[in-house]
Amino acid sequence: MSEWWKEAIGYQIYPRSFNDSNHDGIGDINGIREKLGYLKELGVDFIWLTPIYQSPNFDNGYDISDYYEIAEEFGTMGDFKALVKEAKALGIKIVMDLVINHTSNQHHWFQKSRQNETNEYRDYYIWHEPVDGQPPNDWPSIFGGSVWTYDEVRKSYYFHAFAKEQPDLNWNCQAMKEELFQMIEWWIEQGVDGFRIDTISHIKKAAWETHVDKEHPLKNYQNVAGIEEYLRELSAILKKHGVFSVGEASGVLADEAEKWVGEDGYFNMIFEFEHIGLWRKSNGELDLSTLKDALVRWQEACGVGRGWNALYMENHDIPRSISVYGNDQPEWRTLSGKAIGMMYLLLQGTPFIYQGQEIGMTNTTFQEIAEINATDTIYRYHELLEDGYSQEAAMSLLSSITRDNARTPMQWNDSEYAGFSKRQPWMKVNSNKAFVNVAAETTDEDSLLNFYKQLIELRKEHRVFVDGTFTNYETGNEVVFCYNRKNQEDDFTIIVNLSGQPQELTMLEACRQQRVVLSNYPDQQVTILQPYEARLIANP
Ligand code: GLC
Ligand code: CA
Repeated sequence: MSEWWKEAIGYQIYPRSFNDSNHDGIGDINGIREKLGYLKELGVDFIWLTPIYQSPNFDNGYDISDYYEIAEEFGTMGDFKALVKEAKALGIKIVMDLVINHTSNQHHWFQKSRQNETNEYRDYYIWHEPVDGQPPNDWPSIFGGSVWTYDEVRKSYYFHAFAKEQPDLNWNCQAMKEELFQMIEWWIEQGVDGFRIDTISHIKKAAWETHVDKEHPLKNYQNVAGIEEYLRELSAILKKHGVFSVGEASGVLADEAEKWVGEDGYFNMIFEFEHIGLWRKSNGELDLSTLKDALVRWQEACGVGRGWNALYMENHDIPRSISVYGNDQPEWRTLSGKAIGMMYLLLQGTPFIYQGQEIGMTNTTFQEIAEINATDTIYRYHELLEDGYSQEAAMSLLSSITRDNARTPMQWNDSEYAGFSKRQPWMKVNSNKAFVNVAAETTDEDSLLNFYKQLIELRKEHRVFVDGTFTNYETGNEVVFCYNRKNQEDDFTIIVNLSGQPQELTMLEACRQQRVVLSNYPDQQVTILQPYEARLIANP
């Protein structure tokens, strides 16, 4: 079976914020069609679309009310088919988001399930009688509050790992699973090449009597023993059709990599969560060595023949990487963005680029709660107010960590709404669109966008980045990440200073004669790495 995904570059699109073709302020499918040429030019081989299905948008599409319909604001099934066709003509594959841990509470399955205990949908969700008038246990949900909500109609509690508007499906119910599997096959028939599978590590729950573990509050419904049975059933469907799969797998650690993504793994690759915490030390500083260690652990766990990595530094749920790991001030933005880009794009695995990452989009400042859309941030805001925070203090805490930072409109040019739309978009535009935008970076040879293109070309030119070994070099310096990629033809060293300070590294003396293939500085000093300096060195 073809393993095209091993050589591919993935690009994640958050359609609501990508490009608005009919100028109603919301990005749409036809907007994506308009930008296929841009994606091709960048070197993208497949796009992953976050959910475009019908949804009341309580969690922006991650609450699906009909798996077979396209949300009206995104377009029609005809538009989707045209997108698939045009993308394929350019050699770009389409990956859909599969949200099958939960649905919207507006889904007709849920509406029927709550009616009574005798209809055919009764077991599609997780219901539990009150225990002494209380919820069955003390587990907290991911978006805040209890995982249990009482339903007046059925006079029973239902389970939700996320918001109460997102009831969890019951993976013990065979009929429910059959419907999900049919739905998956239907999308494959529509020409979809694969799936990103949302929150899949949550589908199995521990025994209801288990108490919450305060240290690991999600433990009772995250990667719980027994999940493998469900995953094997799902995996069998995906494998039967030979479609690509990447699971979102919070709580899965590197020592389980083989089970999840090895030769007989459930998926081709997973998005692990170990490297994306903000890694703040107790004094508020970034702990770059923890980031490095997590990346190295996954690289070593998934060597060639033992599994496969999904490489990512951003997605729609986390703040912008330059603002977190680099420096988003104008004089450092491009330099630090290049360092992050080189660090992760040349690792072993399939790289994913999140829209706008390639032009170095950054966090923005959210001043008031009215500017926020993310349900989890709004919940947290009200919690903070209850804890005595002022509105300003709460906003200043949340502004840099809210996932809305990743959802501001894509910056295509410097016009009023950044070329995303002619009308006020659903989410505010970052004011740095004046100089951070596709048009400006296309013409600037030294831009981050052109650096990303070079890195992608290198990946495609040298197979070593696909099938070569990975070896970590201990530099003895916490903030310098240095590794080697090697196969029969090539031998490269990648060395990146992740900090904003110069770093002295005497081991570089040994590379004095070696050729620097690509760097974010025009000149290199022998044993000093400049702030955020990244070098790709060809070893003889
Ligand atoms: C995943 C999605 C996130 C969503 C959550 C609930 O983590 O990436 O955006 O809110 O699942 O579906
Ligand atoms: Ca639109």
